[in-house]
Amino acid sequence: MPSNKKVLLLPGDGIGPEVTHQAARILEYFDKKRIASFDVKEGLVGGAAIDKDSTPVTDATMRIAMESDAVLLGAVGGPKWDSLPFSQKPERGLLRLRKDMELFANLRPAFVFDALVGASTLKREVVEGLDMLIIRELTGGVYFGEPRGITNLPDGSRKGVNTQVYTTAEIVRVARIAFELARKRKRRLCSVEKANVMESGVLWREEVQKLHDSEFKDVELSHMYADNCAMQLVRNPKQFDVIVTDNLFGDILSDCAAMLTGSLGMLPSASLGAPDKSGVRKALYEPVHGSAPDIAGKNLANPLASILSLAMMLRYSFDLDAEAKLVERAVESTLGQGLRTGDIMQASMKRVATIEMGDAVLRELAKLA
Ligand code: IPM
Ligand code: MG
Repeated sequence: MPSNKKVLLLPGDGIGPEVTHQAARILEYFDKKRIASFDVKEGLVGGAAIDKDSTPVTDATMRIAMESDAVLLGAVGGPKWDSLPFSQKPERGLLRLRKDMELFANLRPAFVFDALVGASTLKREVVEGLDMLIIRELTGGVYFGEPRGITNLPDGSRKGVNTQVYTTAEIVRVARIAFELARKRKRRLCSVEKANVMESGVLWREEVQKLHDSEFKDVELSHMYADNCAMQLVRNPKQFDVIVTDNLFGDILSDCAAMLTGSLGMLPSASLGAPDKSGVRKALYEPVHGSAPDIAGKNLANPLASILSLAMMLRYSFDLDAEAKLVERAVESTLGQGLRTGDIMQASMKRVATIEMGDAVLRELAKLA
């Protein structure tokens, strides 16, 4: 068997620990089956780290994350820490992980499971069969641009500043991943910005077009303004296959795309860095949903997004595509049997708790394998 694969679990806050621990059972399963062997560590991030170490992520945890082959994060944040100063908020832990690990490409798939078509707020015919992928730039743009801050003005009023900034290199590296992934799908890529009002958007459009013309002519490229994209996502989402966009637009559009599917509780994500000499990328996987403090610790949360994030880890970090597909099919057949957590509950289905959902997926996995 190849050497141990190093995985760091950072369950975080709210429902994070409950869902992450269900996903970790899948690792144990493949470990026991001797398909791969995992060396799993666990650390603190977000509010959990603030409570213990007075910082949203310690340097020691950062070091372990940097040395891991993959990180599985739960969720960060909650009302308990909302009033902390900006630089000490739980979210800073997640942002530091993304920035220090240079995870510049955030893959956010949005797909509708057949069993859940009815859970979408949109009409069945609009979302049935939807399967799209948003690639969000994750370490640049207005999230990290300088100057930033709040300053006092001479007249006693204040000024808040953030800076939207992108360099050629930052645009090209995320666009390249987008083209490569589009190539593995339907060969259609839509690049999204606001080139009509922002210079960074003009640059974005030009660089993506240039990369297309020099290396990816086989992929059909289109450009769209972000506001129009928001509208098109709810009007006719199936026109999209792969979307590539900047950090802030990606944040917003991916929530919108996620909701098309009926439940944020179903959607995974992967954040990838550049490949090293041996082709290995640093990577962090996390469900798109947040910490849901209102249901935390009650065994009510939906662990499927975390389990599907783990499937993405198997695929993108460990080249275990067949195993990733098995996990996805196990989720599908669990839903097919009518099991639902509260967030995706429908009439005449069987409502189950977090742990029971985890049990069911493992049971299905064992049947399929
Ligand atoms: C996300 C979240 C984060 C973001 C927050 C928690 C900092 O909304 O991952 O989409 O804005 O990037
Ligand atoms: Mg967001």
